[in-house]
Amino acid sequence: MSSERGPDLPPVADRVLLDAGSIAERVRELGAAIAEDHAGEDLRLITVLRGGAMFLADLCRAVDASLQLDYMAVSSYVGGAPGAVRITKDLDDDIEGAAVIVVEDIIDTGLTLNYVLSMLRARKPASLGVCTLLDKDVRRIVDLPVTYRGFSIPDRFVIGYGLDLGGLYRNLPYVATVRDEAIL
Ligand code: IMP
Repeated sequence: MSSERGPDLPPVADRVLLDAGSIAERVRELGAAIAEDHAGEDLRLITVLRGGAMFLADLCRAVDASLQLDYMAVSSYVGGAPGAVRITKDLDDDIEGAAVIVVEDIIDTGLTLNYVLSMLRARKPASLGVCTLLDKDVRRIVDLPVTYRGFSIPDRFVIGYGLDLGGLYRNLPYVATVRDEAIL
């Protein structure tokens, strides 16, 4: 971890919370744990676009086991129940009987992921777990099966490594906290 202000920190950010090296090291550990737990299984790593795609790309290369990747996209229902989403891009493959791990960039309240998990559970995978890089666990509203957690982070809005603010900053190689005044 680093608290240094990097030369390329955007003005909306106040500090680097996780530098690229710390993220890479943790991703390697998570990949090794997944490989050990799921050796010999029909392993599928799934992410919900768009934020998780960057983490998935790095994570899957750290898993030394046979696996398949798949992607889905969802959008929130205007006026629906909290967390209710509709699928705008479904998985390409059937997951019945497979060991499925949903790979997320961040879990905040958990409402969105909870809804996605209930949709996936109905498709009868052999197992269904979650691997998240970042967890704002103090904000959790629903209980989720978080099997693999990269970092617990404080209740601050963060950008970088896939996470955006108004569509920007996903390409930062580190995770940075956003100044409070930038998200008011
Ligand atoms: P949840 O349903 O409250 O868990 O919302 C999770 C989604 O909110 C994540 O997948 C992100 O897209 C977004 N989100 C939550 N916190 C942050 C953050 O600090 N930075 C960027 N996006 C965030």
